[in-house]
Amino acid sequence: MNVLGIESSCDETSISILTEKEVKSNLIASQHFHSEFGGVIPELSSRAHLQQIIPLIKQTLKESNTELGEVDLITATAGPGLIGALIVGLTFGKSLSLSLNKPFIPVNHIEGHIFSGFLMEEKPDYPFLCAVVSGGHTLLLVVKSKFEIIKLGTTIDDAIGEAFDKVSKMIGLGYPGGPLIQQYAQDGDSEYFKFPIGKSKNKYDFSYSGLKTAVLREIQKMNFKDEIPHEIKKNIAASFQKAAVEAITKRVRLALSEYKINSISLVGGVAANNLLRDEIKKIGEEHNKNVIIPDIEYCGDNAAMIAYRGMQYHLAGKKFELNSNAYPSLPFNTFVEE
Ligand code: KG4
Ligand code: ZN
Repeated sequence: MNVLGIESSCDETSISILTEKEVKSNLIASQHFHSEFGGVIPELSSRAHLQQIIPLIKQTLKESNTELGEVDLITATAGPGLIGALIVGLTFGKSLSLSLNKPFIPVNHIEGHIFSGFLMEEKPDYPFLCAVVSGGHTLLLVVKSKFEIIKLGTTIDDAIGEAFDKVSKMIGLGYPGGPLIQQYAQDGDSEYFKFPIGKSKNKYDFSYSGLKTAVLREIQKMNFKDEIPHEIKKNIAASFQKAAVEAITKRVRLALSEYKINSISLVGGVAANNLLRDEIKKIGEEHNKNVIIPDIEYCGDNAAMIAYRGMQYHLAGKKFELNSNAYPSLPFNTFVEE
């Protein structure tokens, strides 16, 4: 079965062709021009998706040696995300489904991330603990089965990736901030500043706004006339990264002590972070659990994870009527109560 995946929820246009066995092709066109504005401009994002989508589909089909007529299932991200950006991919996917007379499955972007570990050779083993760390979301979940997810905690304010992006902006680095903070942190002193690890009422919830404010206060206190010195930037990056990562690892350890878990999976754009990857792997070793973290290509937004999740629903017999509204409410919901 050839599954076509379409992802256009934010600033990456991505198209993938996937089979039950492998990812044949997964192309990602990133909209780098947003960096000049320090964040994603929704209107510009929609326009860029519109420009990219057809050339990218052609290229993906070519690379995977697949004809459009050989596509058996079409999937696209239906939300959450920027509405204008989503509409581009979603409408394109629905239209393709209509013209090819092939089924269409709208996919929840977060579910795409949650199951992205299954794109790897070694796959998560149910029930698995899943930390979703991205620009828009910070979630700790117990994934009991394909269609049963229990939410342990979420962020009560900023998402972890958002905190990386904001701190990056504060110290004059660019957007997206995650990779730049990581780079600066590499030879910075993570003990130089003592930044707080966010607390919340529910022990599994996250909070990143206090950490962000603490960084801002430190910068204001130092009262630099001009730009922040390079050494200080590196120390801020390293100290911030340490606190941001510890907020995740602390809750992962707690969940492992309270829930029966077979594997740990770390997913989403921030799962590209080296320190976080290493710390989660260490926890896995300590607790004798296998750890599945997607390759960098599948951490950030990508269409392979959307195709994979859509295929899971399709194989389970789920059907979607093209004339029903896939946004903002998604037709399939997998979150269950504990
Ligand atoms: O999953 P994603 O591509 O988009 C959303 O669904 O939000 O995540 C993007 C986020 C951005 O905030 C970006 O700064 C962050 O992932 N990110 C990183 C790294 N690479 C990307 N954060 C920390 N370290 C990285 N190496
Ligand atoms: Zn994402």
